[in-house]
Amino acid sequence: MMRLRSLSHSLSARLLLLTIFFVMLAEVLIYTPSVARFRLNWLEDKLGDGHLAALAVVAAAQDMVTEELENELLTSLGAFVVDLRQTDEPTRLLRFDMPPVPERIFFLDEGNAFTLISDAFDSMINGHDRAIRVDGYSPHDATTKVMMIIDETPLAEDLEAFSWRILALSIFISLITAVLVYVSLHWLLVRPMKNITDKVVAFRDDPDDVASILPTSQRRDEIGRAQRALHDMQDALRAALKQRERLAAMGTAVTKVNHDLRNILSSASLVSERLAQSEDPKVRQAIPRLFDSIDRAVDLCSKTLVYTREGAPPLNRVSLELSRLVDEAEPFLATARTTETQWLNEVPTGLKVKADQEEFLRVLVNLARNAFQAGAMTVTVRASVVDSATQIDIADDGPGLPPRAREHLFQPFAGSARPGGTGLGLAIAREIVSAHRGQLSLVESDASGTTFRITLSR
Ligand SMILES: Nc1ncnc2c1ncn2[C@@H]1O[C@H](COP(=O)(O)OP(=O)(O)OP(=O)(O)O)[C@@H](O)[C@H]1O
Ligand SMILES: [Mg+2]
Repeated sequence: MMRLRSLSHSLSARLLLLTIFFVMLAEVLIYTPSVARFRLNWLEDKLGDGHLAALAVVAAAQDMVTEELENELLTSLGAFVVDLRQTDEPTRLLRFDMPPVPERIFFLDEGNAFTLISDAFDSMINGHDRAIRVDGYSPHDATTKVMMIIDETPLAEDLEAFSWRILALSIFISLITAVLVYVSLHWLLVRPMKNITDKVVAFRDDPDDVASILPTSQRRDEIGRAQRALHDMQDALRAALKQRERLAAMGTAVTKVNHDLRNILSSASLVSERLAQSEDPKVRQAIPRLFDSIDRAVDLCSKTLVYTREGAPPLNRVSLELSRLVDEAEPFLATARTTETQWLNEVPTGLKVKADQEEFLRVLVNLARNAFQAGAMTVTVRASVVDSATQIDIADDGPGLPPRAREHLFQPFAGSARPGGTGLGLAIAREIVSAHRGQLSLVESDASGTTFRITLSR
């Protein structure tokens, strides 16, 4: 059962069945007109025979044609009556004493292709033991009209035999064609396709398996092109996978180094706090810079850690009052702004978003810090619901994105245009928003300010 089903799903089996079907269809299309022509020829021949027999009777002296001879002639013709009409007057030449009444009359000169075809089928189905009248010109003399009443049985039998012959021939031709088409398609298409499929499946299961390498084909057709393209793709993918492995290893190393570095930095920070109590004015003067450097180093470590952690952050999404969240961001901005700057919360109260509190706060803080660090005096957060999505705009009145940042927007490590910046803030923000199935995009940025937009579906 399984085998049968897989066979009916295989390309070759379907091709085989389709070929047989199409050849049979072609044969039917050829058969119908030819059966009509066969019947027409048969009847015309019959009229010709009748014509010749009648001529023989005319040629003989009237008294020589006995009734017995007339009957014999008619029987051998398979006819009951033969009339010739040379001029307008009919000449009844041969007839049985009591000829049967014809059930149908056929005029061979009339009728189109369709009536000829339907008459042929009618003969085959109803023609056994039926007397019919046939009118037409003799094939021996186009001016002589012949009318005959004949027994249709031999015609029906001949038509049947003809149909059987055609059927047998069709089956024979379709089988031969199907086998030929099957073999050539199998050779040209199915086999190479199966080969490609096997290799692709093997490649998916194990990209390093040598058995999955596609041979470079010399074929110039579509299959050859597909094979070459797949071969190139395999190469590129394999290289990319190797690269990814290396990057993953590097990521692990960076995470380890970072972790240790953070511990080292916290001890350094403890030591420097003690140093701050030193009496030496020179030491005391250097202390703020030391603190600042250590803070930046810790910041760099935490950000790199956030970025190199594997995949998207695990989220704990809850319904949050957005306006409250914006207020919560304020303390985290202190180091990036001066006292004259403003953090304006214009989010309508009551507007809720479904988000992970800590991660989403990080997004707001990263965007806001950037704006203040770039020199904005006011950063405004607005939010609205548009078509079943929440749009949150973070707009500032700063100088706009510098070209370098614009070219590498959202690219980790590459987009920083700020001394001391790591270029991770926007990349992390976008990653977190994506993990919420949302979008972070730049709406506008020019000399009068910059606006970033977070779109979250509700
Ligand atoms: N609102 C803004 N106005 C002007 N420039 C901006 C704004 N936001 C970002 N930028 C520019 O984009 C760059 C990239 O920002 P991103 O937050 O990714 O990195 P960073 O701020 O340099 O470093 P960090 O990883 O510490 O955040 C910034 O260096 C800054 O030049
Ligand atoms: Mg930043």
